[in-house]
Amino acid sequence: MLVTKLLAAAALALPVCHAFGNGARVTMAVQKGTDAVSRRSLMDKAAVAAVAAAGMFNVAPAQAEDAPAAVDVHADFITTETGLRYKVIKEGTGAQPPPSSNVKAHYTGWLGGFGDEDASVKFDSSRDRGRPFTFKAGVGQVIKAWDESVLAMKVGERRLIIVPPDLGYGKRGAGGVIPANATLYFDVELLGIL
Ligand SMILES: *[C@@H]1O[C@H](CO)[C@@H](O)[C@H](O)[C@H]1NC(C)=O
Repeated sequence: MLVTKLLAAAALALPVCHAFGNGARVTMAVQKGTDAVSRRSLMDKAAVAAVAAAGMFNVAPAQAEDAPAAVDVHADFITTETGLRYKVIKEGTGAQPPPSSNVKAHYTGWLGGFGDEDASVKFDSSRDRGRPFTFKAGVGQVIKAWDESVLAMKVGERRLIIVPPDLGYGKRGAGGVIPANATLYFDVELLGIL
């Protein structure tokens, strides 16, 4: 049952799958992610070394309190009952979609963080295709995080959402692009109810 549901989610959900055919692009994206992560870990190591060196010379480690790992850059997000985190970046003034209505949305999805953040790797975007994504809201056609988000939004609203794995593609991942247990980052705008 669970497996069937996950498979259905992977097959029907976000049109992430459109982008999956392009092996080269995916490989590059993953490569980029790996580079970003190793650059970051090198930087972390450099910071640790600097702090250690400062200690040797008995100089106050001025940088230590600003270490990047200690800062939650998403501290201003709201966490819902399910564990979904979101931040509204544009208010909507339109209607809120009733369950089972067909909706139209634009989205961009990343692994590792939102677009302007260090380790972010974009895996799909309806904006890049220039074509909004339509689906029936609240019936499990898309990942749980999407159903929950869209039903809570008003037309015109745009929000950033942080999707824990159990509201995304879970421990199976998806399409060879979403790793097992991945946290997903989306920028979603509800464009209309059809
Ligand atoms: C994913 O998470 C589950 C449980 O939360 C765990 O059993 C599994 O080993 C994890 N898979 C990977 C590839 O990390």
